[in-house]
Amino acid sequence: MARKIIIDTDPGQDDAVAILLALASPELEVLGITCVAGNVPLALTVRNARIICELAGRPDARIFAGCDKPLERALVTAEYVHGKTGLDGIALPDPVMPVQDQHAVDFIVETLRREPAGSVTLVPIGPLTNIAAAILKAPDITDRIAEIVLMGGAYFEVGNVTPAAEFNIYVDPQAADIVFRAGVRLTVMPLDVTHKALTTRTRIEAFRALPGRVGPAVASWTDFFERFDMEKYGSEGAPLHDPCTIAYLLEPSLFSGRQVNVMVETGSDLTLGMTVADWWGVTDRKPNAWFVGDLDADRFYALLTDRLARLP
Ligand code: RIB
Ligand code: CA
Repeated sequence: MARKIIIDTDPGQDDAVAILLALASPELEVLGITCVAGNVPLALTVRNARIICELAGRPDARIFAGCDKPLERALVTAEYVHGKTGLDGIALPDPVMPVQDQHAVDFIVETLRREPAGSVTLVPIGPLTNIAAAILKAPDITDRIAEIVLMGGAYFEVGNVTPAAEFNIYVDPQAADIVFRAGVRLTVMPLDVTHKALTTRTRIEAFRALPGRVGPAVASWTDFFERFDMEKYGSEGAPLHDPCTIAYLLEPSLFSGRQVNVMVETGSDLTLGMTVADWWGVTDRKPNAWFVGDLDADRFYALLTDRLARLP
């Protein structure tokens, strides 16, 4: 029985790889792809989700438009990383597949109420606005969510958009605070682990060498995406952040972490959006998240390449 998931996303090249990995993996049933404003504005994240699904040969995928701005703050985007379109690196045809009429938040609520309790996993890989809005609108859904596996936050690795905060959390810290306090089983893929999932020439050439159209597209996206991180960190490649969530669902043994308390800073200008992880248990705050710190990068890229090879 495939595991039912909803991917909540702000594509972004790394989001694209996560969505492709999910669509290529029969262990997962993607009930829907809900889009949120983040890397680029909502209209572009929706457009990009359609481009990605058509590239994967999945024009039947159900795509929903969600929140176009954070709960309280003004939207902050990241074209400086992802390019003007959010999917710079390769020009793909204009999408023709439809967007569903239903709002993403209503789709999330309705799906969780319809499907058996504990059977649907949420996989947010952008700002948490849609997830928090769903919880605010329908608090009853928190008991029905099997698990939230999100990409976001940072502790030992510190921030990437400010010295203290990672982008997904920083864009909507109020939403993140709601999610981290919701009492739902929570697995967090922070920069601490995603910065160990670096692209390299060899890994990107393995994508480019794949038989279909997807591999070369992913290689072109990662070629573009890595330039920013390589310049900033002086690293050999760029972190493939978002696919870590899907890989975790497929092969959790690739990752290691610790069950700790994680809270989100929402008040301080200096550290807004910081995920404060009590890694050493120095407080009496109840552990609320499996906070992932490491992965087997070679096995991660082997899984990713193997699955992308299955796509057209
Ligand atoms: O900080 C990395 C995260 O921000 C990733 O999800 C990337 O796609 C951007 O949304
Ligand atoms: Ca993302």
